[in-house]
Order: sequence, then C-alpha cells, then structure tokens
Amino acid sequence: MEKQFTLFPIDTEFEVPKERTASDGVTLVSFRELVPEITDTGYLTHAIVSYPAKFIPQVVRYAINTYTQEGDWIVDPFAGSGTVGVEAYLCKRNAVLLDLNLLLNHIMPLKIYREKEQLHKEHLCKLLDSMRESKNHRFIPSWSNVQYWYAPEILKLLSHHWGYIYSIEQDVYAAIIKTALLKVSKRFSYTEHRTPKLARSKRKLAAIEGLLRENWKDQLIEIVYDHSLKTLRSLNDFVMQTQHHQNQVDFQGGVDSSYIDVPRECDALITSPPYLQAQEYIRSTKMELFWLGHTDEEIKELSRLEIPYRKADRVIHTPTLDKVRDQLSRPDLHKRLDSYFCHTINALENAMYRLKPNAAACIFVGNPRIDGITVELWRILAEYFSERGYLFEKVYEDRIKTRQLFGVRKNKNPDGMKSEFLLILRKTAV
Ligand SMILES: C[S@@+](CC[C@H](N)C(=O)[O-])C[C@H]1O[C@@H](n2cnc3c(N)ncnc32)[C@H](O)[C@@H]1O
Repeated sequence: MEKQFTLFPIDTEFEVPKERTASDGVTLVSFRELVPEITDTGYLTHAIVSYPAKFIPQVVRYAINTYTQEGDWIVDPFAGSGTVGVEAYLCKRNAVLLDLNLLLNHIMPLKIYREKEQLHKEHLCKLLDSMRESKNHRFIPSWSNVQYWYAPEILKLLSHHWGYIYSIEQDVYAAIIKTALLKVSKRFSYTEHRTPKLARSKRKLAAIEGLLRENWKDQLIEIVYDHSLKTLRSLNDFVMQTQHHQNQVDFQGGVDSSYIDVPRECDALITSPPYLQAQEYIRSTKMELFWLGHTDEEIKELSRLEIPYRKADRVIHTPTLDKVRDQLSRPDLHKRLDSYFCHTINALENAMYRLKPNAAACIFVGNPRIDGITVELWRILAEYFSERGYLFEKVYEDRIKTRQLFGVRKNKNPDGMKSEFLLILRKTAV
C-alpha cells in the first residue's frame, strides 16, 4: 500500500521574496574555510568505500554545528554512503539514514564502528594470509553476464577470495576485507573504475591485458592487504575518537524514501538529493552489490525506483520550475524534469513531515543545466516548501574549486555546476 501524503496548510506569509535573484539572496561561503578543523574529506571512516557524489563532510559538519544541538536526531532521506551518519555520530547527534541503495546496509556498520575495543592487526593479517592460500571456496555473483566484465583468470581468483570470506565468521574483520575485495573487484574488471558508471572501454581492456602479462596476482593481493590495513586503522582511529559517544545511528538501505515511514520525529534534516541528470547510483554501484550477494532481480527492482528514472505521479508547479518548463522543448526532458521534482519532493516532504516544529531542513543542491537551461534547484524547493508551512531562512552558495565525484576523480565542473547551495528551511510551529 502506498502512503498518502499529508500536505501542509498553505501559508503565503512565508513566500520566498520574488524579487530575490540567486546573487542577491545568497550568502557566499566556502564550507572548507568555515570548517577548518576538517582538512581531509576522507578522514576517519569517510573514505573506506567509494560512492558517487558524496557530500564533503565540511558541509554536513557546518549544518550540524549551526542547526542542531547535542543529542538531537537528524534525518537524511538520501543518505548514500552515510556521510551524515558519520558526522552526526562524531558530533554526538543521532541519525536516521534512508537510501534506495543497499550499499548503505553494508557500509554503515563499519563507518560507525561502535565497539570500544581496538581491532587487532595480527588477526586481520592471519585472515588475509589464509584467504590468499585458500582455493577451497568459490563465490560467483548471481549476475547473468558477470563473464563480460572479467578476464577468466581474474574472475577465478576473485571468486576464491570472496568464497573464502563468505566461509568465515561474518564479523568486522570479514567486513573490512570485503571493502578491499570490492576495490580490487572493480579495479581488476573491464569497467573504467575511475568513473562512476559501469562501462567497458578499450582503454581498460588493454590495461587488463597488460596486467595479465605482469605479476597481476601480487599486485591484486597487495592492494587487498593495503586497503584492509588502512581500513582497520581508520576504524581504530574512529574508536579512539568516539570512546564516550553513546548516540545512535539507524540506517535502512534498499528503501524508497518517498514512501517509507520515517520511524521517529527528528530535530533536523540534512541531505543532498540525487542529481537531476548524469548520475545513476544503482548502476554505478551494481558491481559492488553483486559481489555483496545481491541478485539481478533485486538490483533491477531498485533501478526502477531510482530518481529521476521513474514516472511522475504528480506534476509539481512553482514559478521558477514553470519558467524552466516553458523554455524546454524536448518532451523527454519534460518527463525527466517532472519525474525528478515529483519524487525528490515526495521524499523530502515525507521526511520533513516528521520534523519537529522549528526544526531546520538543510538541503544541499547544485544548479544543474538541462538542455542549456539552468535549473535553480534551491529556489524551486524554497518556493515549494514556503507554500507549505516552512520558512525560507537562508541559502549559502559555495563556489567549488574541486568536487569529489567518485573516489579519486576530481571534476572542476560536473554537470556544468559552478556552485553548490545549502538551502535552509525552517518548519513553522503549525
Ligand atoms: C547525492 S546522493 C547522496 C550522497 C550522500 N549525501 C553521501 O554523502 O554519500 C543521492 C542519493 O539518493 C539516492 N536515491 C535515489 N533515488 C532514491 C529513492 N527513490 N529513495 C531513496 N534514495 C534514493 C541514491 O541512491 C543516492 O545515494
């Protein structure tokens, strides 16, 4: 049964001032400069798994420091790799994380490693040594065309390593090794591992052929050891820093945020919705999901729910969005736009419904272009929500120099975006 939406009463008192333009209504900031205590975006457990279009932790930290208090509950309906969860835990806040991508369920127990004891390097190395020697186990992902993505000898070795890992106790050590196996399973495949989407390229095929003429097995296992040990160190640092933290981070991957019930009332929302185009999170992480034991059917089902690749069930209107529509001639782009706003707003509205009065909703978005037309996302969201019981409080503009899109890839101007915006809405006491 699909959930019915409760729309907030229309309250014109809180309209976004119409005369404001993007340049005069915004506060120009650099989140990196505002949060100088974070010098490395991949610090502690943030970088143990690659994920497309991650938040930089500075934005989240700034929103947490400015709009929440210790002990508060924060909801993120587009949690992705869980950046909000990690920052919330570090700042002694609680969090509810939701995302369509099942990867969240695999990542979070490691990213928020709550045990108070340090992990042992010797035990990890013993497991890695046994995995290296073992030929007795085999795991092949339930993926109809797995052979298309691997040279046969590489697939064979990976299937032994994964088989071994699935045969041992599924504890934190096994989870650490899995993060390393995910890394090599992508790197030693025919897909371009430096770009988010799964795509076989001539360049990568040639690179793998070259590798196969070298000592590729040694190179592969070296990466597995290095990455596993690095992850163990990150977890131990996390344990050290959070010795006295008692807060809670609940997470649910594999859910459609438009329709899931947020399990509790929250004091703030901090999120970054999917990109309007050029990003397919499920397809980008499909290889990881298969190795982690998910099936073709599960993954196809999730892809069908992904924003903005599904049909709109209502059409959102705001003055700025309607202006964009008027300028767009291509019907396929109209559909994409309708789908994007319908489902993004459904998910935001669903989560914001569970915010307490006076709570802040902090929504981080870009200004994408569609057919050459700029879509001022923050303004559209501000217009929509200020008609429904939210006060438009503020918008910050961060002119990004480099944006980490995926792992090591830096893109100066993804999707034609030059700036990113943190929109702050305040729930009124209705
Ligand atoms: C910009 S990413 C969020 C990245 C996250 N802030 C981080 O730091 O890792 C947007 C997320 O929206 C998720 N998403 C797309 N459609 C969704 C849906 N219908 N329900 C829930 N999440 C969805 C994608 O899986 C993706 O993780």
